[in-house]
Amino acid sequence: MVKFMLNREPKNFDGDGETPLLWVIRDFEKLTGTKFGCGIAQCGACTVHLDGVPIRSCVTPIGALEGASVTTIEGVSGEEATAVKAAWVAIDVPQCGYCQSGQIMSAIALLQSTRTPDDKDIDAAMSGNICRCATYHRIRQAIHNAATSMEG
Ligand code: FES
Ligand code: FES
Repeated sequence: MVKFMLNREPKNFDGDGETPLLWVIRDFEKLTGTKFGCGIAQCGACTVHLDGVPIRSCVTPIGALEGASVTTIEGVSGEEATAVKAAWVAIDVPQCGYCQSGQIMSAIALLQSTRTPDDKDIDAAMSGNICRCATYHRIRQAIHNAATSMEG
């Protein structure tokens, strides 16, 4: 039995400890905002926060999460999350949308650690999040806009 927090709610998982967190989130908890892309930590579609740090849930076994706090796109909150979501909507970042919850989770984590990132910071923080629709330019702009909005 693994006890952990998911979006600030206590959860128990009774199955195989090798089960990837992504399956627990999607199949057991029915939170489908977090996406499966590659399954091998190469695309970032499955990004969630583990104790505030962005991780790839497709390669994170649930058995390693005893006592941990996991946040998904459905539960992420706070100043940075509000600013990022607003900036994403304002400049209409997504195209197909498939990669976007992972992009947003990485962007929020970046702003939580670096309040006014430059292009280099953004590229470094977002390099593990692949977008097949190539929305990278709008993602970068939205992160700058979110940072600016938090200054006011
Ligand atoms: S699905 Fe996890 S990194 Fe691609
Ligand atoms: S918006 Fe389509 S993959 Fe990123």
